[in-house]
Amino acid sequence: MAKADIGLVGLGTMGSALALNIADNSFDIAVFNRTTEKVHSFHDEAGDLADHITPTETLEEFVAALKTPRAIILMVPAGKPVDGQIDALRPLLDDDDLIIDAGNANFHDTIARMECATGPFLGIGVSGGEEGALFGPAIMGGGKREHWDRVAPILEAIAADYKGTPCATWMGEEGAGHFVKAVHNGIEYADMQMIAEVYGIMRDGLGMDMASIGDTFARWNEGPLQSYLVEISGEVASATDSKTGKPILDVILDAAGQKGTGRWTAIEAQHLAAPVPAIEAAIVARNLSSRKDERAMGESLFGAGPQSILQGAVTLDQLEQALIAGKVICYAQGFAMIAAASDNYGWALPLPKIAENWRAGCIIRSAMLDDMASALTEDGTRNLMFAPAFAQYLKDNHGALRQVVSVGTLHGIAMPALASGVAYFDAMRTGRGTADMIQGQRDFFGRHGFGRVDASGDDHHGPWDD
Ligand code: 6PG
Repeated sequence: MAKADIGLVGLGTMGSALALNIADNSFDIAVFNRTTEKVHSFHDEAGDLADHITPTETLEEFVAALKTPRAIILMVPAGKPVDGQIDALRPLLDDDDLIIDAGNANFHDTIARMECATGPFLGIGVSGGEEGALFGPAIMGGGKREHWDRVAPILEAIAADYKGTPCATWMGEEGAGHFVKAVHNGIEYADMQMIAEVYGIMRDGLGMDMASIGDTFARWNEGPLQSYLVEISGEVASATDSKTGKPILDVILDAAGQKGTGRWTAIEAQHLAAPVPAIEAAIVARNLSSRKDERAMGESLFGAGPQSILQGAVTLDQLEQALIAGKVICYAQGFAMIAAASDNYGWALPLPKIAENWRAGCIIRSAMLDDMASALTEDGTRNLMFAPAFAQYLKDNHGALRQVVSVGTLHGIAMPALASGVAYFDAMRTGRGTADMIQGQRDFFGRHGFGRVDASGDDHHGPWDD
């Protein structure tokens, strides 16, 4: 058999889907997996695509099956398995063979791997879940441009397509690709949490049944909120459990899992001093959700928030508007964080291209991203909430966001991400804030110094020692 254009190690859900996608785009691919049976069952089940796939049983056989200079995608669990696989492969490779980590790696690990790599190495973020990997994910690349260019034809062919533009973009050097993927996931967490909070108001505050909630999300998906996450939220709310006949949401345990990428975003945001409160709130909400027993104890101690009492106080239109404002705020925070990292790491991250890259294939794809790309093209240094189109969204909808958060809070319905959105919006439109008090306190107890409104410099002191 002719040598393969590319190799892939790791035939888990994402790896298998990506390998089929590559084969489906008429590239020849060699595959390897730790368990040999998986390699053969994958090949056997590949149907017509099997002709493009070379199953291999050993790493030596795998490496020998590839065209040189080789390009090898790793789709193994993030962390130690990636290092183990690199260590096993490198001695078998030539100096210019390229290893591509396509898992959800922590970008700091990617930077470290690149620093000690003895050959070409790329870190690429792949978004879109199993379906995306199979039919077209969004791909965010990081590493040396010349290495990206070597595999760009394959990555662009397998990526999602937005009106003729492939959603596969080189983001910059080092860990830039995995960093952008982490922020994508941070936004994903915030967007999902805001949707869940609005669902909570419909279910507990307005007493709506799941079918009506599903219909509402479906209707919203026809307007400014059009997005993959709103679309699937409608489908989730409308689905029925085949075992009990109940709405599926009535049988899914309310304890959210997380693999860690969203958390990395929040940790990195703290390092960068980049404010991303909606993302942080979403992570806290997932952490709290997993404390199911404690929450049950709290409910028996303090009582649950009252049911169905928000009719008349909040309308479905206001909920939609609140979600529009919340969405603008959480994307604005994510892009501002990317801008901060770009400066900090010297990556020159292409903000408009990132927005364009997210327009199709990825989990946070949404109609708003096209306008975000235009706004970031006009001025990539401006917070998105100040760009005219998004400022208008906020002017039109922040009142509803405030109403929803106030009424929900008054009645004991937790809305951490939406509430953080109101606080962020208000902080960002307050010319004179309250940090003068913080500075006064710092100077009082530690002589840390402060800036004055009427003089330059930041080492002025108060009268406390007089
Ligand atoms: C994507 C997703 C994906 C992520 C899962 C689970 O872009 O396709 O972000 O990469 O791993 O959605 O993430 P959590 O387990 O952290 O929710």
